[in-house]
Amino acid sequence: MTPASSWTRRHVISLWDVTPAEYDTILTTAASFTEVLSRRNKKVPTLQGQVVTNLFFEPSTRTRSSFELAAKRLSADTLNFAPGSSSLSKGETILDTAKTYLAMGTDIMVIRHKQSGVPQAIANEMERLGTNVRVLNAGDGQHAHPSQALLDLYTMCCLLDEKNPRVELLKGKKIAIVGDILHSRVARSNIWSLTAAGAEVHLAGPPTLLPKGFANFTQPLNDQTNTDIPRDLQMHWQLEPALENADFVMTLRLQHERMTDHMLPSLREYHQQFGITRERLKLCNPGVKVLHPGPVNRGVELSSDLMDDPELSLIPQQVTNGVAVRMALLYLIGGGR
Ligand code: CP
Repeated sequence: MTPASSWTRRHVISLWDVTPAEYDTILTTAASFTEVLSRRNKKVPTLQGQVVTNLFFEPSTRTRSSFELAAKRLSADTLNFAPGSSSLSKGETILDTAKTYLAMGTDIMVIRHKQSGVPQAIANEMERLGTNVRVLNAGDGQHAHPSQALLDLYTMCCLLDEKNPRVELLKGKKIAIVGDILHSRVARSNIWSLTAAGAEVHLAGPPTLLPKGFANFTQPLNDQTNTDIPRDLQMHWQLEPALENADFVMTLRLQHERMTDHMLPSLREYHQQFGITRERLKLCNPGVKVLHPGPVNRGVELSSDLMDDPELSLIPQQVTNGVAVRMALLYLIGGGR
């Protein structure tokens, strides 16, 4: 296993400046933990004595549970904060909540919030206080969801080489990301990781959910990042050009909770224009696989039968791989042994 001492990041907030070598470190570490998880005894003493606190200010099924399981598999002690039954309702601030868990001896904070920037703000406060607490972003507003993009990356790379997943496997692969791009932190994080891997990334969605201004985020990626990573990204307001000869199709949830206006005529029309179906997948390369970060609106983003088809859908593997990838992140930033 890659020694955690070769990892230099204290926090994982976004993927914008993560290098291909760092992605490979995460992928090979996750592969080691996949092997651990295949054993009868799935627990290792890597983070024994450390406290991992899940601070989820926004609902979650997959991310919260898999971070908790990942921490337990690494033998950490886990704390789970539930906003509904917390002192937030008495007026305690988010930063004071974080400092309360700091005072209890938390080593790693895993943070989800509906506002972009909260995990970064807590990481900044932990640094300002001179603590050794590390922060993992578990999804903030429309900004970033790095662990989701990393498990997506791992799932695709494992499909291409199960024993030795690495980013070069995606070089030149065509990946279509379809749907509510505007509100999607998953899409934003995947854009960073997949373009860094050298994949050809195509975004497709209706103009209301893929506004022209999004090109400002995409077009000058190379100038913004200073990472010398050439990035290949194209945008479409129709589905077909994105699907043609695609190797992977990642469809996104329509995020009704983040839509301020009526951005779609109807769900039925959305499905007719951008829903992924068996028929539409015929445009893709043979062997195409479909991903979805979940939760899924069945029959809207993709047809219900497709979601349950093990020949086409990688959705269960994404959830399974989430545990190994989150173990890798906790191990690397936790300085595990
Ligand atoms: N993909 C994802 O973040 O799912 P949850 O909201 O269930 O964590």
